[in-house]
Amino acid sequence: MKRIGILTSGGDCPGLNATIRGVARGIYHRMGANAQMIGIVDGYGGLIHGEAHEMQPHEFNNILTRGGTILGTSRQPYKTIQVIGDDNVDKVAAMKENYKKLRLDCLLTLGGNGTHKTANLLSQEGLNIIGLPKTIDNDLYGTDVTFGFHTAVDIGTEVIDRIHTTAASHNRVMLVELMGNKAGWLTLYAGVAGGADVIILPEIPFDCDKIVQAIVRRTKKGRVFSVIAVAEGAMDVEEAAMKKKKRMEKRSQAGETTATARIARYLEEHANVETRVVVPGHFLRGGSPSAYDRVKATQFGAYAAKLISENIYGVTVAEKGGLITHNRLDDIAGKSKLVPSDHQLIQAAREIGIAFGD
Ligand code: F6P
Repeated sequence: MKRIGILTSGGDCPGLNATIRGVARGIYHRMGANAQMIGIVDGYGGLIHGEAHEMQPHEFNNILTRGGTILGTSRQPYKTIQVIGDDNVDKVAAMKENYKKLRLDCLLTLGGNGTHKTANLLSQEGLNIIGLPKTIDNDLYGTDVTFGFHTAVDIGTEVIDRIHTTAASHNRVMLVELMGNKAGWLTLYAGVAGGADVIILPEIPFDCDKIVQAIVRRTKKGRVFSVIAVAEGAMDVEEAAMKKKKRMEKRSQAGETTATARIARYLEEHANVETRVVVPGHFLRGGSPSAYDRVKATQFGAYAAKLISENIYGVTVAEKGGLITHNRLDDIAGKSKLVPSDHQLIQAAREIGIAFGD
């Protein structure tokens, strides 16, 4: 009997349950009664505190289309995973101990960058780990796509679509702030898909005057409304030259968390337009996965089952060039996949007149 632990960690997203289902269905197809899935509650927190249960096959029914995660999740920041806090708990030792107590043969970790760093640490400590690529940010190194990303793009696109009608009705400039602190993939894709006129990404530091120029150009052509897609991690040229700590201090003193409202104010003062800011926030992570993400989740899950049947560990599932494959955890952990400033989609967007604030 192979005992397979599974946990979901970090920000939730549509597709987690579809992936859990894909793994379980793949395992039962390959091993039948010789496999026991062990669901670990609320991410690494459940492994630290030994909160887990033997899952029954029926638990994997009717979850393909269900948002969120049936296991629950939590954030366990990597930078504190090796720190013994006030609770005096050695988190890594506790996870290794509970892995043994649960008699796990392997552990599947569904998560993004932070999750993969801890997964790699546990792998190096001797646990049999397989990662699966989850995040709406699509910023996991080594894979073309993460599950959750395309659903968020669909939701972000719907927001921008709807904002167009109210922008046009009021001759306003509407700024839509989308999730994505380090990487701008979600804002880039939803911005292009939604027909945004300006797209502001963390990877391309912006200059407010350049944004003003783009809006004034539109106004002069009689386009009296505009939609600007802004990644929550966007920063201006001056901020991009600062260390993160200094940038956060500057923003805290200005009473800002993101730059979007500042851009809106600047436009009102210098482009003589009326603006509004819209932040869909966690809507982008809610609800049922798109058909695309259900397919990705099923492919990733089935592939993880194959890896388990072949006892291949210390790896994370990926898609490269349309093929489902895997990377070594130690090759990808701690690396982010940011939007290259010369990415083909950025070039295409510029060639159809979309501005990037630079
Ligand atoms: O990592 C995914 C993500 O949705 C980011 O895009 C966003 O900045 C962050 O999580 C929000 O974190 P939380 O759900 O903890 O507020």
